[in-house]
Amino acid sequence: MTQTANRARLVLGNWKMHGSLADNAALLDALRAADAASHCQIGVCVPFPYLAQTAQALAGSAITWGAQDVSAQAKGAFTGEVSASMLKEFGCRWALAGHSERRTLHGESDQLVADKARAALEQGLTPVVCVGESLEQRESGDTLAVIERQLAPVLALGREAVAAMVLAYEPVWAIGTGRTATPEQAQEVHAAIRAALTKLGAPQVQVLYGGSVKAANAATLFAMADIDGALVGGASLVAEEFLRIAAN
Ligand code: PGA
Repeated sequence: MTQTANRARLVLGNWKMHGSLADNAALLDALRAADAASHCQIGVCVPFPYLAQTAQALAGSAITWGAQDVSAQAKGAFTGEVSASMLKEFGCRWALAGHSERRTLHGESDQLVADKARAALEQGLTPVVCVGESLEQRESGDTLAVIERQLAPVLALGREAVAAMVLAYEPVWAIGTGRTATPEQAQEVHAAIRAALTKLGAPQVQVLYGGSVKAANAATLFAMADIDGALVGGASLVAEEFLRIAAN
């Protein structure tokens, strides 16, 4: 499989609100056992209460881990929030920011997502900033305008900040629906994101695709020039499937 420029492939799992101590132990053990065989960098973004378990299970392996959200605030009276410095204490490498479920179910604005990314960067975490359009927005031809709007406050953080991030394009209509964007549909948006990154002077930022990625469709997505890996939801809960995606 060709790899574009010198951007390394990255496959991240997003467990969402799934798992239990027992289920996680089995999944993490299976990932760890296969670690040496994976061709690319892999990581898992787990629910906050399982960070300690994940850190312990993956310590010393090449597999990285992180959280699914992070507070934009450093500390204080923010009940229920988790700060980047707390994530850091548990060895997190990644913090998702602006997943569509946060944007739609929790009303997160484009600016808040950028603030979360900045808070993560300040602690040395790599924010994985997610963007994506709804079906309605796609059907009305607004996809690229929506992505541009979502990215604007993130790009406004400047070249140095953006160069230290990962971006993920996740069309909302493809998440958890079994309906993947075609490689061409995904590439069109990835190319637009790449153009914006290039304009900023950060062309090497990894841009992942997410939305019903599975072993059966990963290779054709990864063959696209501007797709650098995947953010995987449902399929990341099954070790064998997740590892087969990463083996491409
Ligand atoms: P999915 O989720 O792979 O289950 O579609 C992807 C995501 O929401 O990150």
